Amino acid sequence: MAESMTGLKRTHRCTEVSNQLVGEKVTVMGWVQKRRNLGSLIFVDLRDRSGLLQIIFDEDTIGTEGFEKANKLRNEFVIAIVGTVEKRSGAVNTNLKTGDIEIKAEELRILSEAETPPIPVDANLKVKDEVRLKYRYLDLRRPNIQKNLMMRSKVTMLVRNFLAEEGFLEIETPMLTKSTPEGARDYLVPSRVHPGSFYALPQSPQLFKQLLMCSGYDRYFQIARCFRDEDLRADRQPEFTQIDMELSFVDIDDVIDVNERLLAKIFKETIGEEISLPIQRMTWQEAMDRFGSDKPDMRFGMELTDVTEVVKDCDFVVFKSAIEAGGTVRGINASGQGDLGRKKIDGFVKFAKDFGAKGLAYIQLKSDGTIKSSFAKFMKEEEMAALIDAMGGKPGDLLLFAADKNSVVYDVLGNLRLEIAKTYDMIPEGQFKFLWVTEFPLLEWNEDENRYTAMHHPFTMPMEEDLPYIDSDPGRVRAKAYDIVLNGTELGGGSVRIFQDDIQEKMFECLGFTKEQAHERFGFLLDAFKYGVPPHAGLAYGLDRLIMLITGEESIRDVIAFPKVKDASCLMTEAPAPVDNVQLEELSIQLKPEEK
Ligand code: AMO
Ligand code: AMP
Repeated sequence: MAESMTGLKRTHRCTEVSNQLVGEKVTVMGWVQKRRNLGSLIFVDLRDRSGLLQIIFDEDTIGTEGFEKANKLRNEFVIAIVGTVEKRSGAVNTNLKTGDIEIKAEELRILSEAETPPIPVDANLKVKDEVRLKYRYLDLRRPNIQKNLMMRSKVTMLVRNFLAEEGFLEIETPMLTKSTPEGARDYLVPSRVHPGSFYALPQSPQLFKQLLMCSGYDRYFQIARCFRDEDLRADRQPEFTQIDMELSFVDIDDVIDVNERLLAKIFKETIGEEISLPIQRMTWQEAMDRFGSDKPDMRFGMELTDVTEVVKDCDFVVFKSAIEAGGTVRGINASGQGDLGRKKIDGFVKFAKDFGAKGLAYIQLKSDGTIKSSFAKFMKEEEMAALIDAMGGKPGDLLLFAADKNSVVYDVLGNLRLEIAKTYDMIPEGQFKFLWVTEFPLLEWNEDENRYTAMHHPFTMPMEEDLPYIDSDPGRVRAKAYDIVLNGTELGGGSVRIFQDDIQEKMFECLGFTKEQAHERFGFLLDAFKYGVPPHAGLAYGLDRLIMLITGEESIRDVIAFPKVKDASCLMTEAPAPVDNVQLEELSIQLKPEEK
């Protein structure tokens, strides 16, 4: 039995009612969070997106009929209350914004009843993620998720205002488009009108924003939805949102400047965090050498040490053969972990192997002064001493070494560094360590395809001083590309773009495209460049990741209203789903018979 709200108008959200209104009549509406029956009095916690407000039903005030109705209230009923604001009769609840007041109800309307919800609407809910996402509309009622989405809204407003003030125009670009070159698989949409042809959903607005620069829009931004069919992780979704921007007549420093001020504003106005500017910059090479990662978490040390020179003459074949094959030997010092048991160390070895290592050599410098090592027997005493010295090892330390080609060594030690820091609580909380990583390699060798691929995308400008190597040693060429990293997460990335035909052609050649192939895919951009193109550069943030870090969530799912799960499905709507044959026929699509 639902009642109408005719004649009532909400005057306040729950927590807008304050002790300044004591004695005044208010009308509030929301959900029943909890009902307690104390015989002659009934207490209800009323909830809306602003928080909780206590309602008190007293038979003398609301009458017998109203009191009986209040007695029927269950969790999640939607109700309207007209009543008077009073100082709390019972103890003040200091945990609540409205903890010193209550509303003495004079009228109650039940606007909607509710069945017992399958998951409790409770901030401290301990329910499996799958169940939460199946009932996302209930999950979204939880105050912590509501807080996250309100934060998200606040950030997008801040971004819009800031960029508008900086002379950026907000311009939308198409969702139904052609494949964009960000390197993931495309989501395709079949065309009904052009049987056999497909649109691709954009992986980013990259080509369109460059075209907008060609068209003279000078500074563009968009809160842009992007689609990428790639393996999902805690910080990846198949559809996600970018704060995307592009600027004309600029170089790296201009892009960095406006973005540092944007980040400073966002962090100041959301969580009161002062970012000290300028943000530290580090080249990609330095980041890899020191942290084994292009998105280093700068909140703790445990940096990599290159010990190739120290061990190059030793007889330990593992080290020797890696060095002879052109690789390196590097180590990390997990300071203070020297007394770990065998099982823990075996765990690290397994972890390293999962990242492609053939093994992990270790020296345990126990706090009692003894030394245990997996390879001491292959080393001379003075060689061991030199190695420990190079690592700054002291009693109580654990030294871990990887010997392999550089890419494997970086990957293994970079990930091990993070794993150990997380496991042994070495990462200080409440810190925001930003870093620009610059001078990325332009190209990356793809073993599977036996060719170079663009590390950022094919429109990224090489560094002028490296252009002479583009034919002889393309792997050595660095790019005018930059990533903004926060606490070990890649928040955003961008680059200065190529705007000269000859360099663009060279780039396509490096990527193994023929002229025809390049034209088939990006012809409209190349053509546009023939008619006057300004030098331009840009950047895009992952908005979801940004909000995840601001709110301190572990997963971007908790900052997206309706996220997808690991297999890219939506548990609530059950998308993706089969469609009926009529629809398929209209699209000229025939499904392959299911394989038995
Ligand atoms: P890039 O591919 O680096 O650059 O993407 C920019 C940022 O988008 C975020 N991001 C994601 N967030 C959630 N789920 C995903 N699957 C996902 N993939 C990427 C990351 C990343 O840093 N067009 C270029 C930008 C440019 O050059 O201007 C681009 O898309 O935070
Ligand atoms: P082995 O002689 O193969 O038993 O290796 C001796 C030690 O070296 C063991 O602790 C292995 O885990 C370790 N090890 C093997 N391969 C590597 C490698 N590529 N890098 C670092 N340590 C390794």
